[in-house]
Amino acid sequence: MKTARGRQREPRLIDLHPPHADMRADVLAGLAMMPKQLSPTYFYDEEGSTIFEEITRLDEYYLTRTEAEIMRDHLPEMAERIGPGAAVIEFGSGTGAKIQQLLGFLSQPVAAVTVEISRAHLETAAYRQALRFPHLEIIAVCADFTRPFQLPDINGARRNLVFFPGSTIGNFTPEHAGQLLGVMRSVAGSAGAVLIGVDLVKDTASLEAAYNDRKGVTATFNLNLLQRINRELGANFDTSAFRHQAIYNRTAQRIEMYLVSQSHQSVRLGDASFDFSPGERILTEYSHKYEVEGFSALASSAGLQTAQVWTDAGDRFAVFLLEPDTG
Ligand code: TRP
Repeated sequence: MKTARGRQREPRLIDLHPPHADMRADVLAGLAMMPKQLSPTYFYDEEGSTIFEEITRLDEYYLTRTEAEIMRDHLPEMAERIGPGAAVIEFGSGTGAKIQQLLGFLSQPVAAVTVEISRAHLETAAYRQALRFPHLEIIAVCADFTRPFQLPDINGARRNLVFFPGSTIGNFTPEHAGQLLGVMRSVAGSAGAVLIGVDLVKDTASLEAAYNDRKGVTATFNLNLLQRINRELGANFDTSAFRHQAIYNRTAQRIEMYLVSQSHQSVRLGDASFDFSPGERILTEYSHKYEVEGFSALASSAGLQTAQVWTDAGDRFAVFLLEPDTG
């Protein structure tokens, strides 16, 4: 017989019914654009998620490692600033490792909330957390976190902490990043806070190497997007006729990822067909980089003040603690 104390709580599942994405329509629209583009949200099928895990372990990809190092070195201080009784709200579900590391340091956290648009990813994350933290309330919210949404009531929470690691904020244009920070502000509430990882501007060579590794893992990740479109939508991309390209645009402060057509070719998707000239590119993702002051200014325009910033010794990456302006 299990005692009440030992029993694992079931995650609380709240479905806000986000409109489900239409991959076919999105791909058709993106390929009809000039220049052509594909939405990075489609990178993460099972194959893509596995390849991405491999990226995070690459020598050249300093982001994951450096953020983890900053967290490791400063978690006690972060926990102190955040205080007891926090409900931690993660926007998007990763492997769970980062939120688990944070929860391990916080004083008496009351809940772990995951907000995720994919029901399958959401359930995996929630059950994993329930196993790891049997005494914590685990809440899974199925919603599109880029749009304002209503958080459920969380019993006993003294403050909400929105957690957004990995420099995922960089994958939004500054305009959309500002809107997303606004959503975080409203979800945090006036007593809440936001803990967010941001990749910093640095020399072009290090940035380009991070997105163009010698082993070609990032190339495989980028090309998997075309393979997925073949697999799921029955297109006929010849992936050997496209090449991965990642370049740092210093003016726009971002890595731009492309798939470059190596020849004159035509690709079919259902009744539609798309012509590519040699050298023509499909834009697949941006990864914006910030100066500490620039990111603070962006957050401030969304009503969030920088309470503290932690960086590594090499100033490659930053973790910001933001708090809503009360003025
Ligand atoms: N947000 C991280 C970054 O911009 C992770 C990431 C998203 C990424 N898409 C990627 C890394 C594509 C490499 C390639 O770096």
